[in-house]
Amino acid sequence: MNYCLCIKLPFADIKVLLSRFLTTHCLAFAGGGFSSVSIFGFINRFVSTTLSFQQATKRHKKERSLCQQVLNHFDQQYNEELCGLWASARAVLLDPHSWQYGIMLNRFSAVNDITQILQSQGFSMLLSQTDPCPSLQCYIHPYPVRFPSQAHRPGQLKQYYLLNAASLLPVLALQVREGEKVLDLCSAPGGKALAIMQCATPAVLHCNEPDPHRRHRLTKTLESFLPHSLNSRVTVSAQDGRSFGQSEAGLYDKVLVDAPCSNDRSWLYSHSSQQGEQRLKERARMPVLQAQLLRSALSAVRPGGIVVYSTCTLSSSENHAVVDTVLKDCPEAEAEDLWEDFAVPLSKNFTFTSAHPGHGGQTLVPQPGKTWGPMFLSRIRRRD
Ligand SMILES: C[S@@+](CC[C@H](N)C(=O)[O-])C[C@H]1O[C@@H](n2cnc3c(N)ncnc32)[C@H](O)[C@@H]1O
Repeated sequence: MNYCLCIKLPFADIKVLLSRFLTTHCLAFAGGGFSSVSIFGFINRFVSTTLSFQQATKRHKKERSLCQQVLNHFDQQYNEELCGLWASARAVLLDPHSWQYGIMLNRFSAVNDITQILQSQGFSMLLSQTDPCPSLQCYIHPYPVRFPSQAHRPGQLKQYYLLNAASLLPVLALQVREGEKVLDLCSAPGGKALAIMQCATPAVLHCNEPDPHRRHRLTKTLESFLPHSLNSRVTVSAQDGRSFGQSEAGLYDKVLVDAPCSNDRSWLYSHSSQQGEQRLKERARMPVLQAQLLRSALSAVRPGGIVVYSTCTLSSSENHAVVDTVLKDCPEAEAEDLWEDFAVPLSKNFTFTSAHPGHGGQTLVPQPGKTWGPMFLSRIRRRD
């Protein structure tokens, strides 16, 4: 019965299942979890992993029902803005089974066993030692192989964090150095704060998040990945990010504004048509809030300091247009060109579009085999 269930699965699903099973059990083996390796036990485990994965996939499929209104809106907007790239990006966004996952290792935990498993499974390092942040280790796979997330380990820090590898780009662009004062203005659930801490040890990393549930998640994430010795450097606050420009003017060397935005990936799968409609209205209001947050960040950074503005939407009105609006009335700030030194070296793994040349910012568009994104980033320097 169980085997029939397996055989009915499409080949791609079987590949994912086998890979997931081997990953999970290699991990258990590395952690000393394999007490009896009988063939019967092995088959049993495979069947139960298969079934639980099937159930999870069913739930996953149920949750991910496509919202036609949102798709129609995207078709209209992105056919115009992204021209030829939209058809292939659309194909990726409509096929969650094709989505790749990145695994960021935690430099504060021993990771040799995980590294060996990842390499033996065909994962490879995303960044080379010459990239702007050599201590940031993220592994990626050419196929949509999903590594299991790591459960809480009492008394031990987690070894890795699963993420869309595109999330690392704003952090790489921020170029945090040892001893700097850094503000992560919109911080939860904390993936980019963790990535900052993999790059360098700032004197201060101030993580701000006004939403109480998301802030709770942020705090838990920081606790599970960072040693107590960093507690005095990493702080969490609950302010509206728009107020930092006044309350903490000129205090920071670097500020990350990973702004609230229309999250294209998840908004395509809104739970109901009402939610889709509501989100499209919210989408129209986003640029006002985003511009206020970016202005606040530009006041919070010191002269000569850097602000990185990022979103996870392809929408130019939340991306280039926000940066342009803010820079128009902020002569003390200028956007840097990210093409030559940033996008070109990373383009083996990421597809950037130059749909808006001359604005300096880069839009990362998901493509088959390089499904990372959507992501937009702009690096802005406050003049000395
Ligand atoms: C894209 S998410 C940030 C993701 C996060 N940087 C990470 O890497 O895990 C945007 C966050 O901005 C928060 N946010 C919304 N309004 C805000 C405001 N006025 N000030 C600061 N943050 C805000 C949202 O609650 C949300 O958690």
